[in-house]
Amino acid sequence: MVASFGDPVLRGKNIVVSAGPTYEDIDPVRFIGNRSSGRMGFAVAEAAAQAGAHVTLVAGPVSLPTPAGIVRRIDVRSAAQMHAAVTEAAGGADIYIGSAAVGDYRPNSVAAHKLKKHDGADLTLQLAENPDILASLSAQKAHPFLVGFAAETQNVEIYARDKLQRKGLDMIAANQVGEGLGFETADNAITLYWADGSLALPRTDKAALARQLIECIASRYKAVRG
Ligand code: CTP
Ligand code: CA
Repeated sequence: MVASFGDPVLRGKNIVVSAGPTYEDIDPVRFIGNRSSGRMGFAVAEAAAQAGAHVTLVAGPVSLPTPAGIVRRIDVRSAAQMHAAVTEAAGGADIYIGSAAVGDYRPNSVAAHKLKKHDGADLTLQLAENPDILASLSAQKAHPFLVGFAAETQNVEIYARDKLQRKGLDMIAANQVGEGLGFETADNAITLYWADGSLALPRTDKAALARQLIECIASRYKAVRG
């Protein structure tokens, strides 16, 4: 039995949460990745389940147990796999929360065998841009209520509001990262932005922060879709 909390508007709603990093393979033993532990996304998925939603969790490569109350977990590795899994799961969903740190680029080709080093010579990797999962969802006619994340090292509000608008999101959760903030930490602080409002959630543990985020999503969801 999962403890429940919060606004009843999320009870029985289908919510898809993406979490963690993506890994883009270079060869059989190397990849390009990013510094996401997946803990914030997993906490958000757990909080959504506690609010009574049916939660599908699409997880990149993380070493985290599935939170209580999650209906379905889909494990993926690359941005392309995450895109396919989210697109499939979000069809007919009410809300998509994109907390994954999706890799922006992938190697143009994956070497079949381990690349060998050639002493003294530089190595150049050709990278291709990955599709934007949130933007591709928002381009669909009937799409879920869309929540994005923005981890920024500077100009947090300007960059977050730009992403909110450019990607056609209903809400964005922004935080400052770097210098001991945001990544690989137990605590986090975020500010939520939507077209005509904002809400600062001060520094606390990720579970408490996730519940506050879910509360705010419930109230915004009610305002625009309720
Ligand atoms: N995102 C996505 N698909 C991508 C890249 C990002 O859905 N290919 C989502 C992330 O899950 C997050 C939001 O977009 O919710 C913002 O991600 P971020 O990396 O901050 O934005 P980018 O548009 O990639 O901009 P940049 O990395 O240049 O800051
Ligand atoms: Ca990015």
